[in-house]
Amino acid sequence: MNDFVLDFSNAIALSSSDIGIEENSIFHQEITDAYNRTLALRDSGKYGFFDLPGKDITLIQQFTEKKLEKFDNFVVLGIGGSALGNKMLHNSLNPLYWNYFPKEKRNGFLRVFVIDNVDPELLLGLLNTIDIKRTLFNVITKSGTTAETMTNYLFALDTLKKELKDNFRGNVVITTDKEKGILRKYAQENKIDTFIVPDNVGGRFSVLTDVGLLSASFEGINIKRLLEGAANMRNTFFSSFENPITIFASIAYQLLRKYNINETVLMPYSNHLSYFADWFVQLWAESLGKKTDRQGSVVNAGLTPIKAVGATDQHSQIQLYNEGPKNKFLTFIRINNHRMDAKFENIEINELKYLEKHSISQLLNTEQTATADTLRENNVPNVTLSIPELNEFNIGKLIFFFETATAFMGELLNIDAFNQPGVENAKNITYALMGRKGFDDARKIYLEKKAEYPNLSIDF
Ligand code: PA5
Repeated sequence: MNDFVLDFSNAIALSSSDIGIEENSIFHQEITDAYNRTLALRDSGKYGFFDLPGKDITLIQQFTEKKLEKFDNFVVLGIGGSALGNKMLHNSLNPLYWNYFPKEKRNGFLRVFVIDNVDPELLLGLLNTIDIKRTLFNVITKSGTTAETMTNYLFALDTLKKELKDNFRGNVVITTDKEKGILRKYAQENKIDTFIVPDNVGGRFSVLTDVGLLSASFEGINIKRLLEGAANMRNTFFSSFENPITIFASIAYQLLRKYNINETVLMPYSNHLSYFADWFVQLWAESLGKKTDRQGSVVNAGLTPIKAVGATDQHSQIQLYNEGPKNKFLTFIRINNHRMDAKFENIEINELKYLEKHSISQLLNTEQTATADTLRENNVPNVTLSIPELNEFNIGKLIFFFETATAFMGELLNIDAFNQPGVENAKNITYALMGRKGFDDARKIYLEKKAEYPNLSIDF
């Protein structure tokens, strides 16, 4: 079967004592209104991610062609929305052990590493391991100022200059705002190649811009098919109100309103989608967790996203979900045809004979069914999104599914899903404490406030 399937039977209440929604309530008036507001968002042109499926990728393709042969490694330096999408595409679409493959087995494409923290060993350990001369560094930051990204760049630059002297420029490419920020100016002055983070696309919605597509292209991912998949999903959402995204968001929203179910678990049954769950966590958390609604009233909105990977986390989290607080809604993702698989033949151990003639993926997917249905028995609503197989088209579809669901959910919650004041505050306090010019007042205010709190700790 080539289609995606969203099975939402396990989210429907069969009796008044069941936790779930009523089947005929999915498309109620509030949902229609939010759908219309989402159409208006798209038409406003303020939220560029809606248009990304039509993106022109010529420059990325030309740049990849020009540079590919010179390098073995592609290192992304970014954080949050400027890194998670790169990790997610790498993990979803290339073989799990890709970075261990020799170049011939990678068809000439590059290993990809994403440095998205300032844990010193994460960067320094990599710089000590790879051949710097054969490494292309992609600094990605929309604002051009993020301390973590710039710290990593400064150290990478130091190493590059030691090895390559003035020729370091050819080993750097910068992805940033097209006009604003210090990096754009720096790149111009130093004649470094650049790509663009569009003005109207926020970090966590930017995987289908140059942010995510450049590293993907260097590791041989078919970015054209990725965009075609996204376009397919966009068409599904915008051509009819009754579509899987509306259904998914309506269920999540009604569970929140009816039962205060405010924890959203994304549980793919696939190691390939492990970083997809990380990417989703940021998208859902940063977009929907907001202090005020669109009218400025304090609402402290949000649903807490949780990552789980099946079957591994059946042996970690599922006990809690089955028997703990009734505050979770689970979304499973299952893959019908895994790229690699094997059948058990001639099992010698009698107690394990039941596995004979079954494949590994059959066991995995059967575990998913068993988990979903057990949760339902325990009154924990859940839905299952089945995808035929992992490929660029389907991942593009999946990305657009969750991005649009997030935007639509923002409309249901009546909040701005596209800003992140809570992230900006902590960034500014870090600048203030690290002594950045222009942040003296912020530092003073912060320290005065902090002095009001008790200073309690224990040594041991
Ligand atoms: O989604 C977001 O907007 C954030 O997570 C940003 O991507 C993150 O803070 C990094 O910002 P920048 O790209 O400006 O370095």
